[in-house]
Amino acid sequence: MKDKLNAVKSAAIEKIQSAASTAELNELRVQYLGKKSELQGLLKQMGGLSPEERPVMGQLVNSARAKIENVLEKALADIKNKEREIALQKEKIDVTMNGKAAPIGSRHPLSLVTEEVENIFLGMGFQIATGPEVELDYYNFEALNIPKGHPARDSQDTFYISENVVLRSQTSPVQIRVMEETPPPIRIISPGRVYRSDAVDATHSPLFHQIEGLVVDKGMTMADLKGILLEFAKRLYGEDTRIRLRPHHFPFTEPSAEIDVSCFACKGEGCPICKGEGWIEILGAGMVHPRVLKNGGIDPDVYSGFAFGVGVERLAMFKYAVDDMRLFYENDVRFLNQF
Ligand code: PHE
Repeated sequence: MKDKLNAVKSAAIEKIQSAASTAELNELRVQYLGKKSELQGLLKQMGGLSPEERPVMGQLVNSARAKIENVLEKALADIKNKEREIALQKEKIDVTMNGKAAPIGSRHPLSLVTEEVENIFLGMGFQIATGPEVELDYYNFEALNIPKGHPARDSQDTFYISENVVLRSQTSPVQIRVMEETPPPIRIISPGRVYRSDAVDATHSPLFHQIEGLVVDKGMTMADLKGILLEFAKRLYGEDTRIRLRPHHFPFTEPSAEIDVSCFACKGEGCPICKGEGWIEILGAGMVHPRVLKNGGIDPDVYSGFAFGVGVERLAMFKYAVDDMRLFYENDVRFLNQF
């Protein structure tokens, strides 16, 4: 019986130690430790032993059983570890591998220029105001001292939605809207889209962008206008930039001026960019007409102000040496990627 026991024990241990999976080990557990196992069979045969032999044999069977259990638990733990290691190996992620490159877009040149102008004026204490693109005739014209039948309406070929509603042809209506709502001092710029019924060519588009400026306070003069716009020109085109004011006419400013900057490319010498002039026109401006202040609810005997308007496309064309405005709207990525 002892020999049989030892044979079973060593066979069990050998098989357990060479098992390759938890499933195999579970089968071996049933085979060697289960109810129908050989060990169990040996215990049943103990009835035939003498009373002295019985406890000795019982002890031997029990210790063999304990030994097998021990080896099995250890093998089970080893295999589980190994299986885990294999799983980890398989699921390993190489964090140093190159990702798929997502194409990076770029800012639109008109957005870049608008933002640059905004930042210059924000730096001088201005705030940003906006107004609607579908605008009342009253704000776009009437309140700006351009009554119906006024010849100035002809210079801004306007899209009419109805008799009294237009697509705004300039950002100047925001002046009135701001004055109506804000007591002076006022210091705002207002960037946005404007619309004119122009045929498309290298310098015209039915939709373009302007940035309006308005300052209203006590004692504002033409000198303040000139100072602010000179500072703007210097920050935009460089410290050595000069400006000049040419007399002009706008119905909503009096006096009015067009403002040129010295050509940033040739510094005023004359070159192809400024068409040999040495100067580039970038702004319309003037002292806010007393009637316009009144229309905005502001007393022109107490307050005065100045306003200006700049075309974003024009600024961008000069800044980036773009000679055809249509490039800004065609959204050809080969063009847009250059900014
Ligand atoms: N609104 C004018 C234009 O579109 C520009 C301007 C703005 C002129 C403010 C003077 C003052 O031509």
